[in-house]
Amino acid sequence: METNAQSGPKVITLSANKGGVGKTRMAILIANCLGASGRQVLVMDMDFNNSASFYYLSPEHTDIARTKNIADGLSRETNNLADYALTTDHPGVHLLASSRYLADLRSINEKRLSRMTGLLSGLYDVILVDCQPDYNNLTLNALNAADLIITPVLKDLDSYNAACFLGQKIALDTDKYDAWHITINGYNHQYEAALSGKQKEYLDIYKNEFQRITDPATWFPWTADMNEIKDRKKLLSGQQIRGAVQNPELYQAVIKLSEFCIQDELLERPAVF
Ligand SMILES: Nc1ncnc2c1ncn2[C@@H]1O[C@H](COP(=O)(O)OP(=O)(O)O)[C@@H](O)[C@H]1O
Ligand SMILES: [Mg+2]
Repeated sequence: METNAQSGPKVITLSANKGGVGKTRMAILIANCLGASGRQVLVMDMDFNNSASFYYLSPEHTDIARTKNIADGLSRETNNLADYALTTDHPGVHLLASSRYLADLRSINEKRLSRMTGLLSGLYDVILVDCQPDYNNLTLNALNAADLIITPVLKDLDSYNAACFLGQKIALDTDKYDAWHITINGYNHQYEAALSGKQKEYLDIYKNEFQRITDPATWFPWTADMNEIKDRKKLLSGQQIRGAVQNPELYQAVIKLSEFCIQDELLERPAVF
């Protein structure tokens, strides 16, 4: 795999041409897990929908994010993106908050981000780029900057079609096809032995269609605990809950996917993240 980060942090891009497949939840969980295990992590929110920013930003940071955000950071190639990052209340996790002014960057060179992340060595071990469910110039920036691209798929036809489309585009428009991996979101290990059924049907199709699927141990179960992560700030007015991941199956999958992201280095098992 080509790596553009000989010296820079490892860049992991979560991208899919479909919303609701789990990109943002995965980015958050991987970031929190790696941060809790002692890594310095930068979450880059490239989605206008703001979901990752909304999760991390405390009310007092929301104002700062109006001037310190990813759109301002990317607006000039001579900028240092670290100057636009905010600290979060998760250990080791930093945020480049989203901005609606990303809209003004629709014609920037598609390799700008990749040149800029190379300058962040020593500051972050890992950068997680959370993309919008779209294929445009910003998505191309996120793909071109990546050492690893992860596309979550659900067990549904539309996420399958969206993943096939993205794979074709990555092959045609970038040199990152070898870095592209599918991961299954919403896998129920209890149905593993079933010889038929929806899960088996999709799994067979995915194994046939996609060259690189992450290890089954990394596949997230379908669990309402994911919603706790989503709603943590919204429902609890900023009150912190430590250890949002209570579900042991989800915890294991997050650890395994995070280890995969850092090239199978073993992580200490953080008690909470
Ligand atoms: N493994 C899962 N189990 C249960 N719900 C999930 C899971 N993954 C995602 N979700 C639900 O789907 C919603 C969309 O997930 P999200 O990460 O925001 O998707 P994306 O970023 O791809 O649009 C989340 O709010 C959550 O409710
Ligand atoms: Mg999202």
